[in-house]
Amino acid sequence: MKRVLSFLAAAALLLAGCRAEPPAASDSADSDLISVGICQVGAESDWRVANSESMKATFTEENGYQLYFEDAQQKQENQFRAIRRFIQQQVDYIVLMPITETGWESVLQEAREANIPVILVDRMVDVEDETLYATHIGSDFTREGEIAMEWLEKKYPDETPVSILHIQGTMDSSAQTGRTVALEQALQRHPNWTRLASLNGDFTQAKSYEVVRDFLAQQPTPPTLDVVYCENDNEAFGTIQALEEAGYTCGEGGVTVISFDATRNGLSLCQQGKILLEMECNPLLGPLVEEAIQALESGETLPRQQYVGEASFTPEQVTDTLLEQRAY
Ligand code: AHR
Repeated sequence: MKRVLSFLAAAALLLAGCRAEPPAASDSADSDLISVGICQVGAESDWRVANSESMKATFTEENGYQLYFEDAQQKQENQFRAIRRFIQQQVDYIVLMPITETGWESVLQEAREANIPVILVDRMVDVEDETLYATHIGSDFTREGEIAMEWLEKKYPDETPVSILHIQGTMDSSAQTGRTVALEQALQRHPNWTRLASLNGDFTQAKSYEVVRDFLAQQPTPPTLDVVYCENDNEAFGTIQALEEAGYTCGEGGVTVISFDATRNGLSLCQQGKILLEMECNPLLGPLVEEAIQALESGETLPRQQYVGEASFTPEQVTDTLLEQRAY
């Protein structure tokens, strides 16, 4: 809307040998629209799909937006390419869900040089210069993990040994680092808690199923498993399948499964008693991102950090009504 790619600049790009790109955002039929380039991680989990749907439902033409949506298929280099494409297109705002925390300085600097505000959503970036982004809207992943650990401390209050299998999310993503830190701090507080292994489930059901199945197959005898700490619901789905195939029972009297997200499918397994703690992670961030963009349009300065409120659920708290009303 605000920026107009001049004919001369476009011609210069072509003469410089740049490949043909989609038209500049300001070339769209209705130039009153605010153009937003969204750079999504991928579609690795139910949470992610709900997050993308929330963005697409918010940034519609009826609401006054021209949306450019890129799915990076869980690769940071695809996210770099998408951001550079948005810069060439001269979008008004870039919304970035960064796959990992590190490596963002250069591309965020490029966005700043092009005067395009970047709004971070969901995960964080680890950059020295915090002014490289306008705001971050998402979850406090460490706090989510701490709430899960407080619950586990109540469940295992004495000094008896507790063996924990840890299924990690995409390494170096904020959701992984925050939830892992909370577990590691709890392990330090409880010398009777042992971590059997940390396996990388990459936030997906298929990978988690594979790594847990292979881990169990490699053990000389079936290990004692008290707790499995899965860093998202899709990991819990794959893990539960692998555990049950190996003869374990999940739930009270068996393996205590902790999971994050509290998607409808996760909550349903919680209601069935297979997941004993669901820590919510809210993906419905589209309206909050829109509020941020409208505030920037009005010239306001945004807080550097905006965390969303989240709840936790145990089986007795998951009612049929809650499941029916769950939006994701
Ligand atoms: O960054 C949020 C996490 O990423 C969610 O817990 C997970 O499901 C997603 O893939």
